[in-house]
Amino acid sequence: MNLILVGPPGAGKGTQGEILSEKLNIDTISTGAMLRAAIKNDTEVGKLAKQYINEGKLVPDDVIIKVVKERLSEPDCEGGFILDGFPRTTAQAQALKESGIRIDKVLSIEVPDDVIVERLSSRRECSKCAAPYHIVFHKPLKEGVCDKCGGALIQRADDNPETIKNRLKVYHEQTEPIKDFYEGEGLLVRAVGQSSIEDTTKEVFKALGLEV
Ligand code: AP5
Ligand code: MG
Repeated sequence: MNLILVGPPGAGKGTQGEILSEKLNIDTISTGAMLRAAIKNDTEVGKLAKQYINEGKLVPDDVIIKVVKERLSEPDCEGGFILDGFPRTTAQAQALKESGIRIDKVLSIEVPDDVIVERLSSRRECSKCAAPYHIVFHKPLKEGVCDKCGGALIQRADDNPETIKNRLKVYHEQTEPIKDFYEGEGLLVRAVGQSSIEDTTKEVFKALGLEV
């Protein structure tokens, strides 16, 4: 399956993406995680992206489209992929379509804004493998340590109330229109992501026609 995950910051794209990746045995490609890795490694893309991310703005379309096209041309994507965080603008959706890459479904995870700020303020992320945790709703087995790879859990630089507010605004203005784009293509399905992680997974599987 070639799947796209859409949703506001903190909707659970990373969390559900990880569960779907195990279920479907395909990789998740998170553009946010790729950009944060680029910042950490001080690459050209990282240098360019840093300020945009820290202010909660989108990095320019041409930069991210190039990064994603390169990633999708790697052999492991032939068996399917889950795109988390791309496309995020109509121009990105259009570029993906023009590249001829087949998309089977676009899953929108829907969560109201008032739930988001609380969720993101208490998120932790693995500094090595980028797995998401939450200090109440998704605790690691050992405090501050990733269950999967043993990496240290950190708080993301863009998870502060001011930047979260900006990310939400950018989502509504620039990303939400892609839902109409994919609805028009007959690819959009929706799952409510407001309840627990487990209940959201059930909604997600139902929307995608997968067995729980
Ligand atoms: P990105 O990393 O994609 O961030 P985002 O879209 O803001 O989404 P998040 O990663 O914050 O949330 P999520 O939906 O993955 O939620 P999670 O599962 O972690 O992008 C960051 C930045 O990179 C952008 O702002 C932009 O600057 C740049 N960028 C990236 N892609 C780009 C593109 N295509 N074009 C331009 N710029 C781009 O869950 C959140 C928390 O809630 C966790 O703690 C989790 O444990 C918890 N949680 C999850 N589900 C539930 C639940 N049901 N109940 C309770 N808690 C839950
Ligand atoms: Mg994420």
